[in-house]
Amino acid sequence: MKRTSNTFFSPIDLDHDIETPIYQQLYGWIRTAILDGHLRPGQRVPSTRGLATELKVSRIPVLNAYEQLLAEGYLQTAVGSGTFVARLLPDDSSRLLSETAARQRNESALKRGTRRISQRGTSLISRRVESGLPTLGAFRVSLPALDHFPIGIWSKLVFRHTRGSPMSTMAYGDSMGYFPLREAIAEYLGTSRAVRCDPSQILITTGSQQALQMCAHVVLDPKDRILMEEPGYPGARNAFIAAGVTVVPVKVDHDGMNMERLIRNDQNARAAYITPSHQYPTGVTMSAARRMILLNWAARTGSWIIEDDYDSEYRFGSRPISSLQGMDTDARVIYIGTFSKVLFPALRLGYVVVPKDLVSAFAAARDAADIFSSTFYQLVLTDFIREGHFARHIRRMRMLYMERRAALVAAIQVEMADRLEVIGAEAGMHLVALLPRGVDDREVSRIAAGTGLSAIPLSTCCARTPVRGGLILGYGGVGENQIRNGIRKLKTCVQVETPLALRKGSVSSP
Ligand SMILES: Cc1ncc(COP(=O)(O)O)c(C=O)c1O
Repeated sequence: MKRTSNTFFSPIDLDHDIETPIYQQLYGWIRTAILDGHLRPGQRVPSTRGLATELKVSRIPVLNAYEQLLAEGYLQTAVGSGTFVARLLPDDSSRLLSETAARQRNESALKRGTRRISQRGTSLISRRVESGLPTLGAFRVSLPALDHFPIGIWSKLVFRHTRGSPMSTMAYGDSMGYFPLREAIAEYLGTSRAVRCDPSQILITTGSQQALQMCAHVVLDPKDRILMEEPGYPGARNAFIAAGVTVVPVKVDHDGMNMERLIRNDQNARAAYITPSHQYPTGVTMSAARRMILLNWAARTGSWIIEDDYDSEYRFGSRPISSLQGMDTDARVIYIGTFSKVLFPALRLGYVVVPKDLVSAFAAARDAADIFSSTFYQLVLTDFIREGHFARHIRRMRMLYMERRAALVAAIQVEMADRLEVIGAEAGMHLVALLPRGVDDREVSRIAAGTGLSAIPLSTCCARTPVRGGLILGYGGVGENQIRNGIRKLKTCVQVETPLALRKGSVSSP
């Protein structure tokens, strides 16, 4: 490392061992010295020859550095008298804070977290739910049985398309998605979910999260109000908040979202977000009467219903509940589905079934967001569905999840009947277990995380503190042994003074 003497500039450290060329190091040093005020306007700088000698480098890098500083207006020359710091610095740089001062200021502001961001950004941070994303341990919610995924078949299809992809599939694709996949999904939804649509209405998304964001952008304006189940899916709440929409919580009871309150007080809402087949997280199913009330409300007020049908493939012991979209005669329902649960979440593929008159708006919103989803995985998925692997996998997983749910409920009965009360229908890949009144679910969740368990507190799904806290326990990706061991561990995390068994009249709703 070479340094100048202190004759003119303060010492310049030149490092010959790094990749940054010498001329760039010099340029950076002089520019910073000017902006920091160490070199004042009008001050003479050494000649290129003098500086090169002083630094013991060739003259070329010094010439290059000076040339750039002259071109950018930091230095100027006067014929016969040498080179000076410019009297008037370039517009941008004079407005720039001294870099060092700015860095120092930013560092302390970063430490304090005081740099101004939007209200939406602040609100998102405050609502962030730590989902324990990296963990594959018990009882991670939303995780399918990855070890039961037919990875061999999937890999063959991936190979088929890597080897034989025509160039057209490598170019930009349709923002609504790959048409054959949309056809396959329309067929599947028609037969298994009673969704009424044709492929032109299907838009392929990067999972349901993107579908929710797009709904917020297409049908709602900032400050519009959306009704949302309480407790409800935090991912949806975040998508709406990120779009500046006001979320109005509506209590969930045994029949789903309680619309009576909505009808009584005109909430002036523009939309409602619901998970009618298997309410997230409580697991209740919306009654037929409530469905009719909701659809009539939407038709009467010209509002939209966003139906999130995230895991209805998995219903044990009873027939699948038909979609709300299939009952809708006024094209008010926007239906969202995902492959995250039926296949795997890292695939990041989902879909929205859009009312016909909204198709062009959704396509434009997708263009404005990220244009389209990876064509390659859309091709693979199309074959996976068309060749029967999809239906077979769902059938197998339905059996597996039924057994895992039974194992979890049994383990809770054996180990924690005095501390946990399971609620919700026999469906899906998670259940909610209510804690006794007065037990702080966030604290239990924190202690559980310390033992390697993921138990999302029910209160993170609530805008207001619930009467009873609870834990959301996923079982889809958890083997039976792991379930039993997990519940034994969880038992040590829930300290109760008055166990459930000794309570009289404890209610089964949060
Ligand atoms: C209610 C609900 N909707 C949607 C999703 C899936 O989101 P994505 O398709 O973005 O993975 C989840 C996953 O946890 C969910 O719980």
